[in-house]
Order: sequence, then structure tokens, then C-alpha cells
Amino acid sequence: MIEQRKNEHIILSVKENVEFEYKTTFFEYVELVHNAIPEINLEDVDLVTSFLGYGLSAPIIIAGMTGGTDLAYRINRDLAKVAEEIGIGIGVGSQRIALEKSDAAKSFSIVRKIAKNVPVIGNIGASQLVKGLSLDDFDKLGEMVKADAIAIHLNPLQEAVQVEGEPDYSGILEKIEYFVKNSSYPIIIKETGAGISREVAEKLVEVGVNIIDVGGSGGTSFSKIEALRTKDTFSKRIAMDFAEWGIPTAISILETRSVSDRLTIISTGGIRDGISMAKALRLGANICGIALPMIRAVYNGGYEEALEVMKIFIRELKIAIFLTGANNVKCFKKKPVIIYGLLREWLEQRKIQDF
Ligand SMILES: Cc1cc2nc3c(=O)[nH]c(=O)nc-3n(C[C@H](O)[C@H](O)[C@H](O)COP(=O)(O)O)c2cc1C
Repeated sequence: MIEQRKNEHIILSVKENVEFEYKTTFFEYVELVHNAIPEINLEDVDLVTSFLGYGLSAPIIIAGMTGGTDLAYRINRDLAKVAEEIGIGIGVGSQRIALEKSDAAKSFSIVRKIAKNVPVIGNIGASQLVKGLSLDDFDKLGEMVKADAIAIHLNPLQEAVQVEGEPDYSGILEKIEYFVKNSSYPIIIKETGAGISREVAEKLVEVGVNIIDVGGSGGTSFSKIEALRTKDTFSKRIAMDFAEWGIPTAISILETRSVSDRLTIISTGGIRDGISMAKALRLGANICGIALPMIRAVYNGGYEEALEVMKIFIRELKIAIFLTGANNVKCFKKKPVIIYGLLREWLEQRKIQDF
């Protein structure tokens, strides 16, 4: 049952239009100011970024997506090769299935077998915490991939619209606090396409979380995936009506960053080129996460195509930074940026300070 669901998620993501249609990431309301005399050599632009104790060659992770089936094994294996070859981080998809079926573990552990020198991030859903996941089992997930951190994903929207979903989030904050305080693994709290608000970020910081993946709207819509997946007309209609629900990624970065300068922010959700990646970094993200473009590339063209897509992202990021006159990420973060239109309106209504 879970195996079938995992494969359906992959196939639908690759073959169907599963992205937001009307709502965007809001990166189009962000402009980096072009510098016609950058006075540096493009080839000297340095993207090296530290994350979870590693020096990444660029501030990027391949976001956690899958595991638990033969198809997922091949996807994870090939994406791990890309991460290792380039020197960027990689996450696995929800490891819940491996707690229930021990032979599913290899589809996750393959990632660490290949990606030996980059951060690897484990993954489990918040619903599993509410259902009583033990600290032992949580730590087992970490051991399975020799994780540098474990992501707990928040997906209340998906759970609410999925026919077999488990939309019980009662007491979740207390559970998160428990794992943050007691697990030996650093914890990342991650949305999955509906975004993190300032209020949620504040609550997470209060319970000790210091890495948040905003998982904002504008890219993959999980409600849409669930709408496509179910044949049940009642659930399909509801999932489709929520397909555009959520906080756009650019907003979510600004909301989350307004809470604390010390948070490590990962920007996932609708990153589709190196320019939006540069904008995410300039708004306050430390790392960018990419999901859909990578699973599509690896499914269609294996390791080679996934490697090529990632190289394009990195080259574009490098060019964008060069064109602002910065030669590294730190310097780039001080370069001028314009925020206008609906993004500015949002910030004004929410009384979020410009930076
Ligand atoms: C096929 C697929 C499976 C996913 N499975 C998971 C998962 O198991 N755990 C998780 O935290 N996020 C999962 N995600 C969400 C991604 O990590 C990411 O947050 C989301 O897709 C937004 O990024 P994107 O617009 O680049 O796709 C999945 C995404 C896709 C496309």
C-alpha cells in the first residue's frame, strides 16, 4: 500500500502537471540590481558554503523526496551520485516505510553509501511523531543513512486532503520539542509546499529549532498530486480546491527570517533556476533546496541528466552573483535588492520590517 503510494507520487510528479498554476513563488517581485561594472572575474565567484559541518561547493541541497521501492532506490542512488560529484547536500524521502518493512531500508541507506562526503538528511513526517514514534525509532532513521540531520516534515495540507491521510497534529509542538531536546541528531523542520509563517517560525524557535526549511508555495503542489492520485470524487474535488493553498516561498523566507538572524533557513519550493536561487539567498535563505526538477531529470535521463541540470543551476547562480558585483555569497548578501508589488503589500500588511 505505502509502496504503491510512493511510486504513484514519483510517476505523477514526473508525468503530470503537479505545480501551482496561479500562485507563484513571488520571486518575480524581487529584483537584484544589475551591476554593469562588476570588476571581478566570473570564474573567481566562490559559492562555497558551510552547512552541517561540511563545506558545500554551492549553497544547495537536493530536497528529500523518496525511498521504499525499487524505483525509489534507483532515484536515490543516482541523485546521491550527483550530490557527491558536485559536493552538495541531499535528503531522502520519508523513512516511515523502513520502520514497517525492514527490506525498504536499502533504498535509503544507498544514499550514504554513495554520498560519503556530503551532508545526508533523514526524513520522517510530523504525523508519525503524533502517533507515538519512539526516540529509539527516530534515532534508527538517522543511523540508517548515517544522517547529519533528520528532517521532520510538516504536511498538514497533504494529510488533510489525502484519502488515507493522518491529519492529526494535536500536541505536535511538544513532540518536536521532545525530539529536539533528546535526539542525538540535529533536527530540521520542513514544510512541503505550503510554507512557514512568522508565527510558526516563532513557535519552532521557542522549542529550540534552529534549522527551518520553509518549503513554500509556487512549486510542487502536494494537494494537486493527491487530487490526481485519487479516484474518489469527493476527495479529488477537495484536494483540487486546495491545490493553490499556501505561503509563497519568497514570503516564507522573509517571514521566517524576521524571527531570528541566527536561524539556518533552507529555501525549498519552486526553485527552478539559479536566478531564483540567488533571490532566495538575498532574501535571507542560507541554502536552497530543489525537488521536482531533480526527480524529473533523474527519471528521464538518469545520473547524467540530473548532473547536467544541477550544473546549470549552479552556473546560473554564479552568473547572477557575478552580475551584482559580488565574488562570494557573503558579499552578495549585502548587494542592493528591490522588493515591490504584491510582495511589498504582503510585508506591509504583516508589518514585517524591510531589511
Ligand atoms: C515526488 C516527491 C516526493 C516527496 N516526498 C517528500 C517526503 O517524503 N518528505 C518530505 O519532507 N518532502 C517530500 N517532498 C517535498 C519536497 O521535498 C519539496 O519540499 C517540495 O516538492 C517543494 O519543492 P519543489 O517545488 O522544488 O518540488 C516530495 C516532493 C516530491 C516531488
